[in-house]
Amino acid sequence: MDKLIITGGARLDGEIRISGAKNSALPILAATLLCNGPVTVANLPHLHDITTMIELFGRMGIEPVIDEKLSVEINPNTIKTLVAPYELVKTMRASILVLGPMVARFGYAEVALPGGCAIGSRPVDLHIRGLEAMGAVIDVEGGYIKAKAPEGGLKGANFFFDTVSVTGTENIMMAAALANGRSVLQNSAREPEVVDLANFLNAMGAKVSGAGTDTIIIDGVKELHPATYRVMPDRIETGTYLVAAAVTGGRVKVKDTDPTILEAVLEKLKEAGAEVTTGEDWIELNMHGKRPKAVNVRTAPYPAFPTDMQAQFISLNAIAEGTGAVIETIFENRFMHVYELHRMGAKIQVEGNTAIVTGTETLKGAPVMATDLRASASLVISALVAEGDTLIDRIYHIDRGYECIEEKLQMLGAKIRRVPG
Ligand code: UD1
Repeated sequence: MDKLIITGGARLDGEIRISGAKNSALPILAATLLCNGPVTVANLPHLHDITTMIELFGRMGIEPVIDEKLSVEINPNTIKTLVAPYELVKTMRASILVLGPMVARFGYAEVALPGGCAIGSRPVDLHIRGLEAMGAVIDVEGGYIKAKAPEGGLKGANFFFDTVSVTGTENIMMAAALANGRSVLQNSAREPEVVDLANFLNAMGAKVSGAGTDTIIIDGVKELHPATYRVMPDRIETGTYLVAAAVTGGRVKVKDTDPTILEAVLEKLKEAGAEVTTGEDWIELNMHGKRPKAVNVRTAPYPAFPTDMQAQFISLNAIAEGTGAVIETIFENRFMHVYELHRMGAKIQVEGNTAIVTGTETLKGAPVMATDLRASASLVISALVAEGDTLIDRIYHIDRGYECIEEKLQMLGAKIRRVPG
């Protein structure tokens, strides 16, 4: 297993470009299954999760064609089997996103239950209930969700999500695109990735309106036609590099991104003392050599502060002036990084869903272990300011969501290298 070695102390300074959004690319790849003909998706990030989705398509008999710029062409008409097997689904929960499109387009789907997850129980009941509301008959047996569309196809439905769910909203929105009649999805997720998916569906001829609000209306169409689409920039990758620069007292300009989709994060960085300037597709953060001030953060569905940036802000608070409370309201058990950060000398106390972080002037490098994707980002961030070397094990978690993290950080002046294991 590869490891990262980071020698802390370098003040980051430079420019990098942001990749396509993982959480947009995954539902968009799943939505290609709805199309009657070949679809091209561009600006895919070079990530392990994307490879897993492409491998899943391969298992179903579809052979995606990838070019050197990471555009992929997918022709779902070549599908041979309607099964998403456990070996793949267990490595990536987002595989559940193929469920809605397969039932809507092919009338049947078997998708393994994703099972437990390092950051809490993460059920999929809403995905199932939403499809049932559209007339699908669903059995959960032998660890698989087996879903069958009624004679004549799925029917448009009114569905209320009792918890705001990003992939839940996406799954039902995709299914509704080919259902008979109108669907109204209430208490929908408003994340920018949901909007990106709706734009992609509309590019193929779907009739989706209201994405980005909590009520999405979909008028089902008979078929979707080929299209070419470019995935939006990754707001979590953007935020992660901004925090990395902030903790080192440095400066970074992130390009090919969109400042309007991470306002809650930019506000917190300003509160921490950063100078933040933005243009149409770039953000520049400058700490002018200062140590950040601790901030209070409470995660909640978009447009509030994202849970996927929580761990990075714990790292920021850990070396900041003062004390900050970080409250996690989306997932239970999403504080595993705290126990690794303790090994580096961070002063963090967890009580229920709140982490009270008291900043210290110095952290110390230590051997630590990545436990999930965003937790790993917080270890990298802390290592950048820690005295001495930090060895981060199990970095396959990082590779699931950060494209070329060591190259990008090296470009900013960090001392980081990958050691194959
Ligand atoms: C997505 C993102 C993930 C992010 C999360 C929250 C992708 C591929 N992943 O995950 O990076 O951290 O949104 O912003 O986009 N829930 C239920 N029943 C369900 C589904 C969800 O109770 O059927 C609960 C979950 O346990 C959780 C909450 O709803 O407490 C939100 O989860 P959800 O938005 O569904 O997360 P994901 O879509 O899996």
